[in-house]
Amino acid sequence: MPERVLTNADLERMVKTNEEWIVERTGIRERRIAADDEGAADMGAKASLRAMERAGVEPGEIDLIVVATATPDRWMPATACDMQALLRADNAVAFDICGACTGWLYALTVAEGHIAAGRAEIALVVAAEKMSAIVDWTDRKTCVLFGDGAGAAVVRAANGPRGILSSYHRSDGKLADLLCRPAGGAAIPMSPDVLQRGDHLVRMAGREVFKSAVRSMSEAADFALQRAGLRGQDVHVLIPHQANVRIIEATAKYASIPMDRVFVNVDRFGNMSSATVPVAIDEAVEQERLKPGMNMLMVAFGAGFTWGAMAVRW
Ligand code: UT7
Repeated sequence: MPERVLTNADLERMVKTNEEWIVERTGIRERRIAADDEGAADMGAKASLRAMERAGVEPGEIDLIVVATATPDRWMPATACDMQALLRADNAVAFDICGACTGWLYALTVAEGHIAAGRAEIALVVAAEKMSAIVDWTDRKTCVLFGDGAGAAVVRAANGPRGILSSYHRSDGKLADLLCRPAGGAAIPMSPDVLQRGDHLVRMAGREVFKSAVRSMSEAADFALQRAGLRGQDVHVLIPHQANVRIIEATAKYASIPMDRVFVNVDRFGNMSSATVPVAIDEAVEQERLKPGMNMLMVAFGAGFTWGAMAVRW
C-alpha cells in the first residue's frame, strides 16, 4: 500500500462533501494515494516481492506474469513488462488484463488455464491500480470512492484437495458507458478539448452501477458455489470486491453468508479496483481469519460491465 493516507476530512477541503455522507453511503473512512513518481508497476512489484518471499519462489522461477490493471503506467508496453523488469523475472512471459474491478479474478483464471494446460508452472498474478491518476478530483460523486494499491499471489499446480474449486465469469459490454473513461484512448484520442472537459477521467452512473453490482455479484456467488458443490453456509470467508459496504452487505445477505464471515476493509482503503480482492486476502491471512483448509469465496464486479466469482479451498 502507498504510504499517503487521504481521509474524508481531507476530501471535505477539496469538494463539497462531508464525512457523514461518505461513511453512511459507502463505508469508506480513508484511502491510500500513491506518490507522484509511484506507478502501478512499482506498487505491483513490491506486492509481488512479498508474495514470492512467502511462497519461497525466486524471480527466475516465475514463468508467467499476469497483471490486472485499469491504470497501466503507459499505453505501451504492458505494465506487466515493466514489472517483469523491476522483478528481474527474466524467464517469464508477461501481459496485462483489463477487467477493471473484476480484473484480478480474470487474471487468476488465465493463470489457472495456463498452468492446467502445461504452458506455465509458476505464475505471478498481480493487481496494481493507481486510481488517483484517473479520478476527477473535482467530481464529488466519484473522487471520494477510490484509492491506490496493489496485491499479488504466486500460483502453482498442487496435488490434493486445496486450490481453486470453481469459477464463474461474465461480461456485458452493452452497459460499458455507465462506468468508463469516455475519451483519451484510440477512438477519441487525448486533445486539449478532452483534457479541458475531463473526458479522460472516470465517469460513473453510481446508482445504476450499484444495482447491477448487487445483482451480478449475487448471481456470480450463486453459480461459483453451485459449481463447487457448496452452499452459502459452507463458506468460511467471503472476500468481496470492496467498492461500497452496502453492496457487500447485500451480496452477503443474498448468498446467506453472515457478516462475521465477510472480510471488509473498504473503510481503510476505498475502492482500489482490481487490487481490492488480493489485498483483502492478504489481510485475512495476516489476521488469521483465512486459514488452510477453509472454503473461501471471492466475488467482484466492475466496469465493462464485468463480474465473476471463484471458490477456493485455501
Ligand atoms: O467498483 C465497481 C464500481 N463501483 C461501484 O460499485 C460503486 C457503485 N455505486 C455506489 O456505491 C453508490 O451509487 C455511490 C456511493 C456512488 C452513491 O451513493 P447513492 O446512495 O447511490 O447516492 P446518489 O448517487 O443517488 O446521490 C444521492 C445524493 C445526490 O444529491 P441529490 O441529487 O439527491 O440532491 C448526490 O448529488 O448525494 C449527493 N452526493 C453527495 N453528497 C455529498 C453524491 N456524492 C456526494 C458526496 N458528498 N461525495
